[in-house]
Amino acid sequence: MLKSGRELSSSQHSIGMIVEMIHTASLVHDDVIDGSDTRRGKITVNKIWGERKAILAGDFVLSAASVALARLGNNTVVSIFTQAIEDLVRGEFMQLGSKENENERFGHYLEKTFKKTASLIANSCKAVSILGNCDPDVQEIAYQYGRNIGIAFQLVDDVLDFTSCANQLGKPAAADLKLGLATGPVLFACQQFPELHTLIMRRFSVDGDVDQAWQYVQQSDGVQQTCYLAHQYGQEAVRHISMLRPSPERDALIQLAEIVLTRNK
Ligand code: FPP
Ligand code: MG
Repeated sequence: MLKSGRELSSSQHSIGMIVEMIHTASLVHDDVIDGSDTRRGKITVNKIWGERKAILAGDFVLSAASVALARLGNNTVVSIFTQAIEDLVRGEFMQLGSKENENERFGHYLEKTFKKTASLIANSCKAVSILGNCDPDVQEIAYQYGRNIGIAFQLVDDVLDFTSCANQLGKPAAADLKLGLATGPVLFACQQFPELHTLIMRRFSVDGDVDQAWQYVQQSDGVQQTCYLAHQYGQEAVRHISMLRPSPERDALIQLAEIVLTRNK
């Protein structure tokens, strides 16, 4: 994805900063929505300064990212990022809703996962390839790598919520159930334990629901099935990036897929 001279251009470098700012802004807002007290082992902005200032702080970081993006002066790249930001917000909205129809639930979860997590990664990979004057087929490879690694990342995140402790995560464990969210492990567990359906529909809101859902997940192979799915997306990411000619950068991206799949925090 580097230019032929293998030097990173300044606009490609800026994309790294812009993506990090959009991601940070979204997490500052997310911690307000989720009422989280800790992130990456530190106290959250909302906990220290309150929700109003946290929302404004997130807005400020997002506006700084927009200024930096406009400065690049590339309309295609600007529209790629507006799409990614729209997806972030739509993904969060999708997460607030539940599907009554069990057959639609997994599709809804994967679409939400793409929008909330993978779209920003996919679109930033694409933007960097555009700024490197890559051919459309290479742009597509970059996008597909980001899309697949992004979905794999979120699936692993959803597994860690069941398998890791708060100390390791730097944020509370079992947080998803407590927020009423049915992620991969629960959706797979529901195929083995249909009793979970009622709990999912009421978003684990009745006393004891969270504990009961946790037990069902532990008794099922929901965690293993979600891990398996994450590996499939990881392999798909590697398959796409392997279409590029060999380079140390390509190898680093292949290694990144492995890191995403084996992380424990
Ligand atoms: C983390 O989810 C949250 C996201 C990946 C995206 C959040 C997006 C928004 C709040 C929309 C607003 C967007 C902008 C650009 C300001 P999580 O709660 O599953 O992960 P966590 O456990 O790390 O909190
Ligand atoms: Mg959160």
